[in-house]
Amino acid sequence: MTVTLVIGTQWGDEGKGKAIDVLASSYEYVARYNGGNNAGHTVINSQGTFKIHLVPSGIFYPNTVCLLGNGLVIDPSVMIEEITALQKAGINLENRLWISPRAHFIMPYHKILDELYEKAKGQSATGTTRRGIGPAFADKASYNGIRFGDAADSSYFLDKLNTQVLLKNKIVQALGGGLLDLQEIFKEYSSYYKILKPYIKECFPIVQEALKLKKKILLEQAQGTLLDPDFGIYPYVTGSTTLATAATAGLGIPPRSIDRIIGVAKAYTTRVGSGPLPSEMTQNIAALQEKGATTGRSRRIGWFDVEAVRLSIKLNGIDALFLTKLDTLSSLDTVPICTGYTLEGVKTSYIETPSFQWDKITPIYQNLPGWKEDISQIRHYQELPPQARNYVETLEKHLDCPIQWVSVGPSREALIERK
Ligand code: IMP
Repeated sequence: MTVTLVIGTQWGDEGKGKAIDVLASSYEYVARYNGGNNAGHTVINSQGTFKIHLVPSGIFYPNTVCLLGNGLVIDPSVMIEEITALQKAGINLENRLWISPRAHFIMPYHKILDELYEKAKGQSATGTTRRGIGPAFADKASYNGIRFGDAADSSYFLDKLNTQVLLKNKIVQALGGGLLDLQEIFKEYSSYYKILKPYIKECFPIVQEALKLKKKILLEQAQGTLLDPDFGIYPYVTGSTTLATAATAGLGIPPRSIDRIIGVAKAYTTRVGSGPLPSEMTQNIAALQEKGATTGRSRRIGWFDVEAVRLSIKLNGIDALFLTKLDTLSSLDTVPICTGYTLEGVKTSYIETPSFQWDKITPIYQNLPGWKEDISQIRHYQELPPQARNYVETLEKHLDCPIQWVSVGPSREALIERK
C-alpha cells in the first residue's frame, strides 16, 4: 500500500495524533489537506510532549517529508511558533517541511470576524475555536482570500490586502469592532512571510514525484467526519470538507491513488463546541473528562455512537479502524453503546434526521459489561479482560468494519495491533 489516509470518524479529537505518530514510522511523506490551526494534536514521544496544530505529526521521524496542502488555511504566527518549538527540540526541518503557496492566510480580520459572528449569534453560536477558520474559508469561496504565494510580490500583496481591509472595515465596524490598520497588517504579514519563505513550495510536483517512485504517503485529515459542512449537523460544523475525498482537492492527489483508508474512533465520544451530541452522558464520569488541545475548553462526553460512526465508515470507505482510549473506560460496571436513534418513538437514522429535529432524538442503548483491570500495560489482544474484548468485538460487529489497532494509553508503545 503506498497511499494511506487517516481520518477521524467522530466529532474530532479521536486521537488521530497518536494514530498518525504510530503509523508514520513507515511512511516517507505525511501530508495535511484540510482545516487549519483549529486542529490540535498532542504527540507524546521520546523527544517530549508536543501540542501541534498545523505541522503533520510525521515531523518526528527524521526522514519523513511533511506537506501542508493547498486545502489549508494557515495562521502564519501559529506556524512560526510551531517551527520554533520543533527547532528548539532539535528537530531538523530543512528540506522536509513544505507549505503550499496555494494555502490561504488566516488574516487578523478573520479572527476578529469569527469572534464577532459568534457574539452576534448569541445562543445559536457554533462554538468555534475562534481561530478565524470559517471566515477564512468563506473568503476563499467568495474570491476574497489571500494566499501564501500572493505575499511573494509585495505590491501585489499590498493591493489585495488594501481591498480586503476596505471591505472588512465596513463589516467589522457594523458589528461593533474596531478599525483595521492596513499598514500594520501589511508589515506584520510581510515579516511572517519572510520567516516562512524557505518552507513555501508548490506541493503538486512533490506529490507527483512521490507517486511515480511509489513512495509511501500518509494523508492526515484534520477535525472529524461529523464536523463536515455537508454531512455534519449543519451549522454545527467546521469551515472545510473533512471527508476523505477532500484530500484529492486539498493536496492535489488523484482519488485513485489512495489505497487504504483508516478511521480513528475514540472508545467513547467527545465533542467541543455547540451542536447535537446524541449519546451525550447525563452523569459526570471524572475519568472521561478531557480538555480540548486547541482551546482548552472542556469536551462534552458521550457513549460510543455506533450509528454516527457507521455513517463515517460508509461516507469515507474506511477499510479498518484504530480505536483509541480503551483504557479510559476501565473501572465502569457497564459501558453503554448507542446503537441507533428514535424520533418521537419511531426508529430513525443519522442521515434522515433534519437539523431542526436533533433535539428530539432519543438514543437507543445496548449495555455491555465493563471491566475493572488497568489495561494500559497490555500489548497482546488475548490478554485483555474478556469484557474489554467483548466491547471491541461488539463494536466491530455493529460497525461491520475490522478494528485493527486498540490504543490503551497516550504513548507510542501503548498499543495493541490485532493480526
Ligand atoms: P471552527 O472550525 O473553529 O470554525 O469551529 C467549528 C466547530 O468545529 C466547533 O464546534 C469546534 O469546536 C469544532 N472543531 C474545529 N476543529 C476541531 C478539532 O480539530 N477537533 C474538534 N473539534 C473541532
